[in-house]
Amino acid sequence: MLHREDYGARVCVKGWVRTKRGSKAVNFIALNDGSTINNVQIVADVEKFDPEMMKQITTGACISVVGEMVQSIGSGQAVEVQAHEIEVLGECPSDYPMQKKGQSFEYMRQYAHLRLRTNTFGAVMRIRHNMAIAIHTYFHQHGYYYFHTPIITASDCEGAGQMFQVTTKNLYDLKKDENGCIIYDDDFFGKQASLTVSGQLEGELGATALGQIYTFGPTFRAENSNTPRHLAEFWMIEPEVAFVDLPELMDLEEDFIKYCVKWALDNCKDDLAFLNKMIDNCLIERLEGIVNTEFVRLPYTKGIEILQEAIKQGHKFEFTCNWGDDLASEHERYLVEEYFKRPVIMTNYPKAIKAFYMKIDEECPVFDGRKMGQTVQGTDVLFPQIGEIIGGSVREENYDKLMNEITERHIPMKDMWWYLDTRKFGSCPHGGFGLGFERLILFVTGMQNIRDVIPFPRTPKSAEF
Ligand code: 4AD
Ligand code: MG
Repeated sequence: MLHREDYGARVCVKGWVRTKRGSKAVNFIALNDGSTINNVQIVADVEKFDPEMMKQITTGACISVVGEMVQSIGSGQAVEVQAHEIEVLGECPSDYPMQKKGQSFEYMRQYAHLRLRTNTFGAVMRIRHNMAIAIHTYFHQHGYYYFHTPIITASDCEGAGQMFQVTTKNLYDLKKDENGCIIYDDDFFGKQASLTVSGQLEGELGATALGQIYTFGPTFRAENSNTPRHLAEFWMIEPEVAFVDLPELMDLEEDFIKYCVKWALDNCKDDLAFLNKMIDNCLIERLEGIVNTEFVRLPYTKGIEILQEAIKQGHKFEFTCNWGDDLASEHERYLVEEYFKRPVIMTNYPKAIKAFYMKIDEECPVFDGRKMGQTVQGTDVLFPQIGEIIGGSVREENYDKLMNEITERHIPMKDMWWYLDTRKFGSCPHGGFGLGFERLILFVTGMQNIRDVIPFPRTPKSAEF
């Protein structure tokens, strides 16, 4: 309707009142139906309407207007509606929690059911939708199959995080064996089951049959990380590709993420312009920057060299960063935001800080003149403001080498025979990665807290709505 030019047409518009202003003679109502950040302006000649009804038109009320579409003389919009009939569908009393402008996001989180009606959350949710479409479009166009991996799983060896248990057992009366271990034989699945922390292991089964697959679904981690970057329930996109090597995997990561950001720039112009104005006025510039920059590809060992050099030059970090340490977010941010000033794809991490399934590098790196321990073909994509946005790797496809890792790490494999079968029967080189959907949305919207880019966040001690 906002793009129509058939002035004089009779239209019916329904939506929620953003503001009402005006004089005794004319009222201007900014009405929004959620389809866009832009409001339609309703012009109501006061004398035409019942004063009691006009009083009910307050911020947040839901109304239906029949009127004539006219060319707007005011700036900011091309059309407005000269109201003939107005019906109040839902009044909105003055204790409406979203009434005031400029409330903090923290305050609004208490009203996740109503914050969706604000401009900012409307913009974020529309961008979230667009990013999901971008992801499906990218993979579909590149010959990947959307592959549905289970949400309930009985394998707990991924090691990506603490798991939530799924059970129908009576928790007040648990049967235990002589060692005090809970007996699961009589549980719903006949064994201990949990919510998945990643679809990767099943994704590998898909890729080694269909060639290229991706998953896109909810993922659950019960780690007690109360940070602006962690959710207990988040959405993850996990492509898995047969016959890929490390450079090709990094090409895919970079191409895919640039495509998504470009999609937002092309398809979410109004919402981005709004967020750029209200949340972060470097947002659009930063997004354009990503699309037009080549990502740095940095082996872990080289990264440690840079960080240690920075320390020598007087830079202070809270945590240590010796070869072998897992990098803290302050280290990642130094590399991305200060040293390179662009996204970094870090690779070839020490084996001990990465998962068992990552392919081991042929040669050990040399650091400070000394030969270091084994490294693996893992790749993390590190982004400005966000830190790790993607984690992935080339997988170990050799049965014996994989078994070796499993044994060394004491990984419980009794329920994993099916995973090992991929390495037994027609094993092939393959790899993939996981993109945290909400971390992508954080980056694209410029929002600061991951709780504000998912409609109803799940975090420690919080599962309202
Ligand atoms: O690095 P992660 O743990 O990798 C995996 O799960 C692999 N199985 C992926 C694969 O190779 N198929 O998680 C992948 C990404 C992270 O880079 C991060 O963006 C996001 O998932 N992520 C979270 N997002 C929100 N809340 C959390 N608690 C997250 N944990 C990970
Ligand atoms: Mg990771």
